[in-house]
Amino acid sequence: MNDSYLNFVNSPFGARLARSLGLPKPEVLRRYRADQPEFGGLVALGAGREPHLLDALATLVASIGVTSVAHASAGLWVPLANRHGLMTGRFEPADPGSQGKLAALLFDASGIEDSTQLEPLHGFFHDTLRSLGKCGRIIVLGRPPESCATPRQWTAQRALEGFTRSLGKEARRGITANLVYVEQGAENRVEATLRFFLSPRSAYVSGQAVRIAAASSTTSGDATPAFDWRQPLAGRRAVVTGAARGIGASIASVLAAEGAHVIGIDIPTARDALDASMRQLTGTALAFDIAAPEAPAQIAAALDEQGVDIVVHNAGITKDKTIAKMTDAAWQSVIDINLSAQERIDDALLAAGILRDGGRIIGVSSISGIAGNLGQTNYATSKAGVIGRVQSMAPHLRARGITINAVAPGFIETQMTAKIPLAIREAGRRMNSMSQGGQPVDVAQTIAWLAHPGSAGVSGQIVRVCGQSLIGA
Ligand SMILES: NC(=O)c1ccc[n+]([C@@H]2O[C@H](COP(=O)([O-])OP(=O)(O)OC[C@H]3O[C@@H](n4cnc5c(N)ncnc54)[C@H](O)[C@@H]3O)[C@@H](O)[C@H]2O)c1
Repeated sequence: MNDSYLNFVNSPFGARLARSLGLPKPEVLRRYRADQPEFGGLVALGAGREPHLLDALATLVASIGVTSVAHASAGLWVPLANRHGLMTGRFEPADPGSQGKLAALLFDASGIEDSTQLEPLHGFFHDTLRSLGKCGRIIVLGRPPESCATPRQWTAQRALEGFTRSLGKEARRGITANLVYVEQGAENRVEATLRFFLSPRSAYVSGQAVRIAAASSTTSGDATPAFDWRQPLAGRRAVVTGAARGIGASIASVLAAEGAHVIGIDIPTARDALDASMRQLTGTALAFDIAAPEAPAQIAAALDEQGVDIVVHNAGITKDKTIAKMTDAAWQSVIDINLSAQERIDDALLAAGILRDGGRIIGVSSISGIAGNLGQTNYATSKAGVIGRVQSMAPHLRARGITINAVAPGFIETQMTAKIPLAIREAGRRMNSMSQGGQPVDVAQTIAWLAHPGSAGVSGQIVRVCGQSLIGA
């Protein structure tokens, strides 16, 4: 759907009018395009005491070919960073020409063990934030608080969340701010995640805290297989439900662009749209109602011969009414399609080993499932249930190296949100740090990162794709 306000205030006349009336001006977000460089520009690096993730940052900087500069006050850790081959210059905030010059700010806070050591965060971002360009990226790296050795360290690491979320709200101009907690021993598993958060692929993901776990020695399929960064899903098969239109069609298209063979599922009445969408990607169309009792066995039979590596549970419906007015059928169909059908399909694919070891399951939840919503008891129940599935199943699937995660979209411009009454729609669109709705491709790119072979350390997590919505934050 079209956001006419965003288009208007980004036209020359609209921009002048918005300025003179003091109206908010949402930024046109920079999104990934295959014909444009994904990374580039200067990246400023900062760190607290004894940063443990400089090796991981050196690998990243070398592999994406950006130029890194150390913050002028970086002091003690600069020689250490130099040894990791990170430094090519020093960033001087006093330089008046530095405004808007930086593409990203990376801060390694992994060595901070006490609240009294948090000051370098202030020093670094105080000096650099104004030099970060439009649609720039902020990534703070830390250690998962729950794995810290002492209460003081846990406290200081947990504090990073409030800091990063606040930066996301202050930065505006299409800038995102995210926190990556890297477990000890998982340093070699961060690259796919850092690339995602640095890339324009994460245009509408901000204010998130993501955890990366170390590989377990007893797990089959847990080692990261070899892959090509340009086609990371080559040779993999991905099932996407609700693939005929909206977010599902975009997920199918992004996974196919990353090299996967996509099997799209949608209801028989959407067959024409599904066929058209799968033809474009040389995918396979399966016209099934996922909630039908025979669907799990039918889907398992259709996939059995070649198996599958990625399952995306995207199909979903709304039947909104306040609970007193909600019919039993409206309650039942939403719970069944949005939640119970996913459980039945996964059971069938897992029991028969059709979902291979090292596989990926990704559910589509919603910020309604986090915050609740008036008139959506059925929908919010189903979407909170998706979160429960992810959290409860992740430990069980670990032994097979299968990860399970969910995305929780906020307001995304689709036919589903076009049905919302105008005033509520406009509020949903603007009440986030980007002052605009997201696009289906924003959800699709986030799912592609979770499906990535390099995301083996990311499991049991809920990642909001909501432009840092105020709802449920
Ligand atoms: N659009 C948003 O702002 C938003 C926000 C949060 C979450 N979501 C979730 O994202 C997912 C996709 O939403 P969308 O906006 O693209 O919706 P949409 O209505 O445009 O598309 C949903 C697709 O699912 C299919 N589907 C519905 N019931 C099915 C069934 N029983 N079997 C097979 N296919 C079925 C539909 O035919 C349709 O093609 C949903 O799970 C939705 O709850 C959307």
